[in-house]
Amino acid sequence: MRRGTRSNLGAVLLLLVISGGSAFVKLLKASVARRPCHFRCTNHRLVMGILLSFSNGPSIDNFLDGKVVWITGASSGLGKAMAIEAARRGARVILSARSIDKLKSVEQECLAVAPLKTSNASRSARSRCSSSDAPSATVLVHPLDMLRYDDGSFDAAVALVLGTMGGLDILVNNAGVSTRSSAEETSLSVDQSVMATNFFGPVALTKAALRLLRQSPSRSPHIVVVNSVQGKLGLGMRTSYAASKHALTGYFDSLRAELSLDSIPVTTVFPGYIRTDLSLNALTGRGEKYAQMDETTAKGLDPTRLAVKIFQAAAAGKQEVIFAPFDARAAIYLRNIIPHVVFRILARKAQKALRDRIPNESRREETKKKK
Ligand SMILES: NC(=O)c1ccc[n+]([C@@H]2O[C@H](COP(=O)([O-])OP(=O)(O)OC[C@H]3O[C@@H](n4cnc5c(N)ncnc54)[C@H](OP(=O)(O)O)[C@@H]3O)[C@@H](O)[C@H]2O)c1
Repeated sequence: MRRGTRSNLGAVLLLLVISGGSAFVKLLKASVARRPCHFRCTNHRLVMGILLSFSNGPSIDNFLDGKVVWITGASSGLGKAMAIEAARRGARVILSARSIDKLKSVEQECLAVAPLKTSNASRSARSRCSSSDAPSATVLVHPLDMLRYDDGSFDAAVALVLGTMGGLDILVNNAGVSTRSSAEETSLSVDQSVMATNFFGPVALTKAALRLLRQSPSRSPHIVVVNSVQGKLGLGMRTSYAASKHALTGYFDSLRAELSLDSIPVTTVFPGYIRTDLSLNALTGRGEKYAQMDETTAKGLDPTRLAVKIFQAAAAGKQEVIFAPFDARAAIYLRNIIPHVVFRILARKAQKALRDRIPNESRREETKKKK
């Protein structure tokens, strides 16, 4: 029996037990109180809720198959995992980031997992040489630097995507960079480049891509934004990272409301730690690479599994989802109810990070000298 069918069956059985149980309790209460018993549609809602959460819901395959998906930050980590997952499920993908070699290798991985129909389309598209001749290409590698959000390169990229892929269905704003230094030790130019990569870049690309999304070939355009738990809570040693992610939250909440008129949904995801190179690539206060794998990052979520969950959330039309352990979700929730308690915990964490950074700094200097 297929996994989906089995889980549906499980869902139905669970549902019968729950709704039967609740009906029985209701009958019992009614008979004790000697009053008639009415069953309202609560049970139906429960039924639908349980079925939706257990079934594959609006299918991730339907969401991705045949769609044109543009993923930024596709050279590494979560973006790479999302690109491979989208290609595996029949999407035609545009891969953007700065590292061309890494993008080329992700392209090969995408082509290797793409269903035969899309690989064939790609092969015939390649044999036709020019990218403008190939509106059915499976994978398009197009390097983009988020820092160059205002030099016209994004408009040129949009024109190329239109010519090569024939349109755009899903834009995934994923590229990002983190920081590892205290606010005082972080130069303003680092703050600015983090804001450019994590905020102005995605904003400019989204603006440039909107006209493509409005002409979505599948007529079901979608924007996915990879934010962070730090788009809801500011951790110490991450001031500009947290600021850029908070800015993303506000911008895309506001844009979601506007785009409801065009029926372009926006799904913002707020992951906790993910097992990627984010901390290795993070910037120090002087703009150098931090180049250390944090323990928290190393123990983080598996990017491949998270990629599936993100597409599932978008397929289900979720507006925002937090993919994080219980303590992070609780802190986000409690921040609005008992902020002083949450701020006290965050302060303690920041003090520890500030104390620990001294040995970290000297360890890094030592590694540098050895090299
Ligand atoms: N890892 C975590 O713990 C974690 C937690 C929550 C949220 N996130 C978010 O997840 C997203 C993906 O990060 P990751 O964890 O997969 O880290 P990663 O492995 O370091 O990947 C970051 C990606 O962003 C790209 N990028 C960085 N600067 C860029 C620029 N100026 N222009 C274009 N692309 C740029 C990188 O490619 P190039 O260097 O080739 O340009 C790379 O593909 C980020 O938005 C991050 O904030 C990560």
